[in-house]
Amino acid sequence: MSSASSCCCRASSLSASARRRSAALSRSKDSTVPKLAFCAGAKPTSLTTTTTTTSYSSSFSRRGGRGSAVLRKCDYNVAKRNKNAIITRAHNANDATATATGTGGGHHLTSKEELLKGQTKTPIKGNTGILEDLEDYVASKTKNRNVYVETYGCQMNANDSEVMMSVLNDNGFTETKDIHDANVILINTCAIRDKAEAKIWQRLAYFRSLGKPKKKAERPVVGVLGCMAERLKTQLLEADQLADIVAGPDAYRDLPNLIDTVQNTGSKSMNVQLSVEETYADVIPVRPDGTHSAFVTIMRGCDNCCTFCIVPYTRGQERSRDLASILYEVRVLSEQGVKEVTLLGQNVNSYYVDTNKSEDFLSSLKEGNIVGNNSIEAILNINNAREELNMKNAAGLAGEDPTKFNGYAAGFQSRYDAGRKREGKVQFAELLDRVAQIDPEMRIRFTSPHPKDFPDDVLNVIRDRPNVCKCLHMPAQSGSTATLERMRRGYSREAYLDLVKHVKEVIPDCAITTDIISGFCGETENDHKDTVSLMNIVGYEQAFMFAYSEREGTAAARHLEDDVPEDVKQNRLAEVIEAFRTQAQKKQEEEIGSVHCVLIEGPSKKNDDEWTGKTDSSKWVVFDNTKKYGEYNGGDEDEGDAKHALKAGDYIAVQVTGCSTGTLFGKCLGKTTLMAFQAIHGSQRVAPKNFAAAAR
Ligand code: 5AD
Ligand code: SF4
Repeated sequence: MSSASSCCCRASSLSASARRRSAALSRSKDSTVPKLAFCAGAKPTSLTTTTTTTSYSSSFSRRGGRGSAVLRKCDYNVAKRNKNAIITRAHNANDATATATGTGGGHHLTSKEELLKGQTKTPIKGNTGILEDLEDYVASKTKNRNVYVETYGCQMNANDSEVMMSVLNDNGFTETKDIHDANVILINTCAIRDKAEAKIWQRLAYFRSLGKPKKKAERPVVGVLGCMAERLKTQLLEADQLADIVAGPDAYRDLPNLIDTVQNTGSKSMNVQLSVEETYADVIPVRPDGTHSAFVTIMRGCDNCCTFCIVPYTRGQERSRDLASILYEVRVLSEQGVKEVTLLGQNVNSYYVDTNKSEDFLSSLKEGNIVGNNSIEAILNINNAREELNMKNAAGLAGEDPTKFNGYAAGFQSRYDAGRKREGKVQFAELLDRVAQIDPEMRIRFTSPHPKDFPDDVLNVIRDRPNVCKCLHMPAQSGSTATLERMRRGYSREAYLDLVKHVKEVIPDCAITTDIISGFCGETENDHKDTVSLMNIVGYEQAFMFAYSEREGTAAARHLEDDVPEDVKQNRLAEVIEAFRTQAQKKQEEEIGSVHCVLIEGPSKKNDDEWTGKTDSSKWVVFDNTKKYGEYNGGDEDEGDAKHALKAGDYIAVQVTGCSTGTLFGKCLGKTTLMAFQAIHGSQRVAPKNFAAAAR
């Protein structure tokens, strides 16, 4: 049994209120002060979050890791001791820092001077030596704080890096874009296929080479985070000494401690504990300045356990984020001018939540305990958040009780009993509807869904809300019922095709995209042909296609034989890609003459005189950026009325004039808004024949 403890471990072992208190304490600047005292003192073992010889498993249970019962109990005692210590010491140092920073509940230890100035203002009685402690502490907190982050994998990983940076900023770290300037290099990883991991190993070797001429203590600390960290754990610390820190997807709050441990003691540190509750609901991610497109994670983990997939093992059990915190974050983004929000989750449309959890978030908001929220406190307050939460579900659900579990898409089953758990809770349809109502000028997308979770109430919201994009990702994985059974996907080819037909009936202009795996265990030539025929029948607008890559520990690796030879896998994959391209090209050509409401993303990489933008259906469009434009009026461009220079984040009406398989080329017809375009055309896209009629 390891002597290690961790924030996450503690988080999952304490009662909800104890956990909140402990989380609030660990977030507050003052709470870190006593940790210094302990780090510098005689008993670091019980209080650091660090281990090099951990015995944590990657499993998860309702109350923390399997086999960690004793550890949890002792963690609770440690946490209790720790908390008492924090309160005693913080009581003295607390006022000092609060006075110094002047934020009254702000989070940053801004500088040594400020802290020590505060210290003098509120002298600490009967605590000799604390000033020296503070000096050491501040010194350690104001150096070696440049962090370089590299992110691989899915959009969830991109958003996780933003969350992680928020936690680090809150603890005095700063992001650098120059790897040579970094004291800490973090790589956020993906483990979904072997290839993804191979790339990470290469990068780790490169990171280590950066420190070579320097003494060990001067080399940057290298941390491996995310799914690969969760999968490989100690292997990463041991293999060629390439990493100093290993942290799983539920351990980002612990990063400052993990880094401190390595920097202060030279030992390696790891936290790969998975939590059944961590959603980072109270952490506002650090997004690039002026961004007009943002990710908002609404749930984490996956319970589906498709036989080929490592995700349930690296990201843990499914859990949904509190409703109020999501509505609040989207409102903040709207106030900041963001024009497109993508709701994220491993199984995004199986979202369900009890609103009574929202009180926890609202209290945190009231107490100023939202991480990374400093710059937006002025914009929003608790009343807005409460109003948002109480907002009635105004449309979309066609008079149905939104909290009633409406089942799965016809012909689809869950591999676990999620339906029963969802009854009486706020589910995805309602969440989507509420998010869409926050700002009618903000586009809403979501990914990545499971096709089983497209009951009619979800489809109705997508149809009825003009700002919910008419573009559905429906990962089929295979077109063969036999393969789908071996994959344990919970549906047949026929059920999938019926769902596609139904989606097209409910939302006629809906673009459909997919994921496909070629060469899965036991796939015959006929199974493969079924997949090619599925591609031809559906005619996907986009597809992400992969050769099967066996992942150790998955059900397929344990029970099925990876028996399709590599060259056969690659040939089949090439045929699937070819089928996709043929259909996609046809769809692109059908677009010529159509008019889309396009959100400008930025200048084209290839040509400064062109913009790139995205249609509602998520297609890339390239168009001229050298002119000014008037308001779009539903017809051809009116040159005489030109007055608007365009910028990223503007909506513009674009008529498609040409295409390649992946890109549409077009001309601007004028500046518009999402609502104005909708008012003119009744949708976000006008077919060529309808536009010609309108223009006459
Ligand atoms: N091999 C190949 N592709 C995989 N995916 C998931 N696991 C594997 C694997 N072991 C694909 C699926 C999934 C997408 C994110 O990655 O298509 O939808
Ligand atoms: Fe993996 Fe299946 Fe979960 Fe998607 S639904 S993350 S493919 S286990």
